[in-house]
Amino acid sequence: MGGHIVLDEPAIKIGIEEPGEKATRRAFIVAAGAAGLCYTAALSYPIYRYLASPEEMATNATAVTEVSLKDAQKLPPGSVLMFKFGTAPAMLIHHLDGTWASLSAVCTHLGCTVQYEAQADRIHCACHGGVYNAYTGANVSGPPPKPLHRFTVAVNEAAVDVSRT
Ligand code: FES
Repeated sequence: MGGHIVLDEPAIKIGIEEPGEKATRRAFIVAAGAAGLCYTAALSYPIYRYLASPEEMATNATAVTEVSLKDAQKLPPGSVLMFKFGTAPAMLIHHLDGTWASLSAVCTHLGCTVQYEAQADRIHCACHGGVYNAYTGANVSGPPPKPLHRFTVAVNEAAVDVSRT
C-alpha cells in the first residue's frame, strides 16, 4: 500500500485570513511607517542644519533673550563663568574691582570662542591673536573687525540675570 500523509491544516494558506492576522499586518505596517518617519527625520535634520542660511542660524542664536544664571552672584572677583546664551557661547565676568560684564564669547573675526584672561584682565582669541577689552568688549588689537556684543547684567540674591537688551 502506498502511504500518503493527510494534513489537518494546509501547509500554505492562500487567500484565507484569520481575523487576528489582518490586525497584526496592519500593526506591522503602522510600525514600519513610524520607523520610516523617524529614520527620515533623523536623516533630514543634519541636512537642514547644513543648509540653514547664516541669517536663519543667527535668528536661532538670538531667539533666547534672557538667561538667569542661578548662584552666579557667588562668582569670585577675577573670574569668569562661561555659559550658553541660546545656541552661542557667552561669558559672565566678575572683575576684581567688583563690576560685572557679560559679553558674547564668539570672536567677531571668524567665530572662534574667545577666553577671558584674568591676569591680563583681557579677552583673547587664540585663533589669530585677537584681543578685546574685558569691560566693554571693544576690539583692541588683532584681526577682529568689531567689538564683542555686550549684554545687560542684573545681579540679585539668587542669580545673575543676563539679557540682550
Ligand atoms: S577668529 Fe578670533 S582672531 Fe580670528
